[in-house]
Amino acid sequence: MNETLQHYAAALESLAAQGLLRRLPDSDCSARLDFSGNDYMGLAKRPELVDAALEAGRKYGAGSTGSRLLSGNTPVHQAFEARIATDKGTEAALIFSTGYQTNAACIAALLDKSVLGAEPLVFADKLNHASMHLGCALAGAKQIRYRHLDLAHLNALLEKHADELRPKIILSESVFGMDGDQADVAALQALARRFGALLYIDEAHATGVFGPRGYGLCEAIDLDPATVVMGTMSKALGTSGGYVACARLVRDYLLNKAGGFIFSTAPSPLVVAAGLRAWELLPSLDAERKGLLARAENLRANLRKLGFDPGQSTTHIVPVILGTPERAIAAKEALAAKGILVSAVRPPTVPQGTSRLRLGLSASHTDADMTRLMKALGSL
Ligand SMILES: Cc1ncc(COP(=O)(O)O)c(C=O)c1O
Repeated sequence: MNETLQHYAAALESLAAQGLLRRLPDSDCSARLDFSGNDYMGLAKRPELVDAALEAGRKYGAGSTGSRLLSGNTPVHQAFEARIATDKGTEAALIFSTGYQTNAACIAALLDKSVLGAEPLVFADKLNHASMHLGCALAGAKQIRYRHLDLAHLNALLEKHADELRPKIILSESVFGMDGDQADVAALQALARRFGALLYIDEAHATGVFGPRGYGLCEAIDLDPATVVMGTMSKALGTSGGYVACARLVRDYLLNKAGGFIFSTAPSPLVVAAGLRAWELLPSLDAERKGLLARAENLRANLRKLGFDPGQSTTHIVPVILGTPERAIAAKEALAAKGILVSAVRPPTVPQGTSRLRLGLSASHTDADMTRLMKALGSL
């Protein structure tokens, strides 16, 4: 075997030996009861989204044909950004093809030391998503990691570095994707203000589910111009894509400096139109949000009764923390044998010793679905 390929083969063997090898799941999930996805509001298959996509496709084409800065800027891209900014309460917004790309591109640009004049001090929650780490890595920025959701720890770290004349930025998710717990975004913004830091909040898992009209946990707070809110269309909005909502100055800066915006083809008008339609539907889904969160609460209570550990979840994302990768895989396979699809999440996605099942609840699940899930969990 070619020498380079031998290294790849050895890496795969090592992952397999640790129980960490990843494989694509079965592509036909239609017959299964699915708790492995992120379609939190059950919008992915709504005809309104498909109709909006088709209408935009007929008007603007299947593809955007180029970067937004060249040929890819359609009215539907602009309309979606205007709507995001209005509903998030910011001056402006900018959309990207994926959430991963949004974080990687925006965080890298915001941390650019050639612009900031010094290496920034980056304070990051320990459990932030991989795409946020990538943004830091692309900028060559070292992260000062604070204990998960521990704002006293963050405060102490900010105090420790208060006298350093380097730009400061705080990075956190609002609802954490693997644990289903929530950051106190108002307290984060207050801390950021006190220490003159920029605040960057990832609302990937909160968008659609939280906020007075479903526009995320940050919807309930008065956003500071130095707060940048990021989110995805790939979860509760049922499509794909990412956005940042921010001050106009920040949007203008990202439009000029974020490589993932400048050097990538704009998202297809079909996908953007579907995302916009989903966004418009969110305020009408209050009853669905209440039902979703009530089912999650009931699931956690039942898990505890069964002796399982749902961690600190307070949302529609409910982990069942099992410990070893082998236990997580065995539980996932036992549920699959009963026709129930869940994700087994292992390191490096979650810390060592916390391999788990991740149950992503959706407004499209029924009480009968929940009963079936709990019965299957009870027989593990
Ligand atoms: C917190 C968080 N941010 C960003 C992303 C990336 O979003 P996307 O799937 O749209 O690329 C994810 C994806 O799971 C996520 O969990």
